Amino acid sequence: MTNNALHGKRIGFIGAGNMAEAIIRGLLESRTVPAEHITASDVIPERLAFMQTTYGIETTDDNVALVSAADVLVLAVKPQVVNQALAPIHPHTDGAKLVISIVAGLTVAAMANALGSGTRIIRTVPNTPVFVGEGMVALASDGPATGEDYAIAEAIFDPVARIVSIEEKFMDAAIGVAGSGPAYGFLIIEALADGGVKMGLPRPVALEMAAQTLLGAAKMCLESGRHTGQLKDMVTSPGGTTIAALHKMEAAGVRSALMDAVEAATRRSEELGRKN
Ligand SMILES: NC(=O)c1ccc[n+]([C@@H]2O[C@H](COP(=O)([O-])OP(=O)(O)OC[C@H]3O[C@@H](n4cnc5c(N)ncnc54)[C@H](OP(=O)(O)O)[C@@H]3O)[C@@H](O)[C@H]2O)c1
Repeated sequence: MTNNALHGKRIGFIGAGNMAEAIIRGLLESRTVPAEHITASDVIPERLAFMQTTYGIETTDDNVALVSAADVLVLAVKPQVVNQALAPIHPHTDGAKLVISIVAGLTVAAMANALGSGTRIIRTVPNTPVFVGEGMVALASDGPATGEDYAIAEAIFDPVARIVSIEEKFMDAAIGVAGSGPAYGFLIIEALADGGVKMGLPRPVALEMAAQTLLGAAKMCLESGRHTGQLKDMVTSPGGTTIAALHKMEAAGVRSALMDAVEAATRRSEELGRKN
């Protein structure tokens, strides 16, 4: 845990689905927050029973009661039902509550519109590796959210993710790189494994090698402080195997394809945002 911004705070999760569960598990396993300070609401009774038995947290099907009792709210329902979820809680999210949203495409302005312009709001874009404690989360805000609010949001995601704060206008690009990014990683790992299988490796061995190699490369990138070009050059001896492979990748336009992928996902996110 990097700070104690959540000390004594009661957190209410509106929506107890996959993402909420990953965040709650992280908070409990890291001992950032005790189970009795977490409440989750959902419209599915079986889901609430599961969360209560598995994690020992409080559960409720009453969002108004949840909001009234919480200091910090985490909005974790699907975008299609968010307006339904926000309408009844509007009168209860006074200035004393911080609202953190993980809802895809829901802007700070739309939330302020639904909850009142004085509401302290932080919008986030997490990605699925939060399920294994290796997520990437972008935070953005506007209006009355304070530095302390950012510290609270960071403490919530810290057990399961790396965190960056960006301007809200870059949230679509964050989706393009990190939100959709795990799928690019899976595709690349699968393709590398296919290459290994083509060269005679058993599938499970090829897959393990490919996944661990990308994990190791990512770790070197994050921890070595070296430029990616320098790290690449360290593996690339003159006339060797790696330069032969890299030449093929450059000829196939792999860099350009990945840049196009990020641009396409960003543009699609902008389009979907305009429809909401
Ligand atoms: N999963 C991802 O990869 C990912 C990544 C980044 C961001 N997100 C965002 O995270 C949010 C949650 O995603 P998720 O995958 O955790 O969704 P999920 O598993 O469907 O969880 C949402 C839960 O909220 C329940 N719910 C619906 N209306 C409610 C209400 N009024 N009050 C309380 N609970 C209500 C849902 O029930 P019903 O199923 O009956 O509606 C469901 O059990 C989404 O907005 C998504 O855009 C997800």
